[in-house]
Amino acid sequence: METAPTFFAVTVVEKVYRNGVIIFTLARSDGAPLPLFTAGAHISLRLPDGVIRQYSLCGDAGRPERYRLAILVAPDSRGAGAYLRDRLTLGRSIQICAPRNDFPLAELPHPALLLAGGIGLTPLLSMAQSLRAQRRPFQLHYFGRHETLAAFADQPEYAAVRDYLVIHPRDHEIASRLAPLVADWQQRYGRFGLYYCGSLPFMQSVSEYCDALGFPQADGHYESFTPAPVQGEPTFEIEIFSTGEIIPVPADLTIAGALNQAGIEVEISCGLGICGTCLAEVKGGIPDHRDDYLSAAQKQANNQILLCCSRARTPRLVIDL
Ligand code: FES
Repeated sequence: METAPTFFAVTVVEKVYRNGVIIFTLARSDGAPLPLFTAGAHISLRLPDGVIRQYSLCGDAGRPERYRLAILVAPDSRGAGAYLRDRLTLGRSIQICAPRNDFPLAELPHPALLLAGGIGLTPLLSMAQSLRAQRRPFQLHYFGRHETLAAFADQPEYAAVRDYLVIHPRDHEIASRLAPLVADWQQRYGRFGLYYCGSLPFMQSVSEYCDALGFPQADGHYESFTPAPVQGEPTFEIEIFSTGEIIPVPADLTIAGALNQAGIEVEISCGLGICGTCLAEVKGGIPDHRDDYLSAAQKQANNQILLCCSRARTPRLVIDL
């Protein structure tokens, strides 16, 4: 089984809250370096109630003595957002785990077109700084609220890449702007990488337009921390190994959702198949693995499953909770 991530404490050494965006600077209290990261990486924060949240690092990957996070928090936010806004103040500590990168820059030295939808800007700021340092051609296109972007105006990430930034008024502009932009880049560079991050509708729009334009899948890279809605999936059953109880999993629920509805409590943290909190043993049937937690070999063994996101390839899965 994959080892669970190790959490360690960092301190808030700077906090800026503007236009609904909180920009945190985190460091070890003794000033020691933090684990290295590469552009596009994220860290997990463990909140006092045990909930784990993932946030992209927006700072310079060449400065591992501090991590920089930018988090959008609605004024009426409760739970995690309210905690980060009101209680995680300057000088306080929080548990984090070492950065993980599921959204890296491709190693091929191709130019990079970065598309940010609102606060999806954060990993792309880090990528833009890295691309600039590597002298690779790139552009950063921002689609979203002016206020969100303005929150970064006096921050070092913004200053470092300001000259490469193209600002579009709203994220729905992506519909009319993507085709000419991609055509222009294809003409200029032939092959290039397209990196995008933002809200679910933004991601869906970019993905659909890329498909419609015949953009090579291998050159499209994206990340989203919002679970995709579950709908129209094949139904199946879960059998609880210890009791023999059968729980149907409908087309619009995750396994965890169906079990919780049936009164069988499943603990969830990320809800994205990243953290491993909802891992269960498989005693029968074949899972349809959709997580980023298990290794390829573990997935092939088919004896574990992440209940927050994976489904079944067989009509019934027997699991041990
Ligand atoms: S809750 Fe994090 S992997 Fe399922």
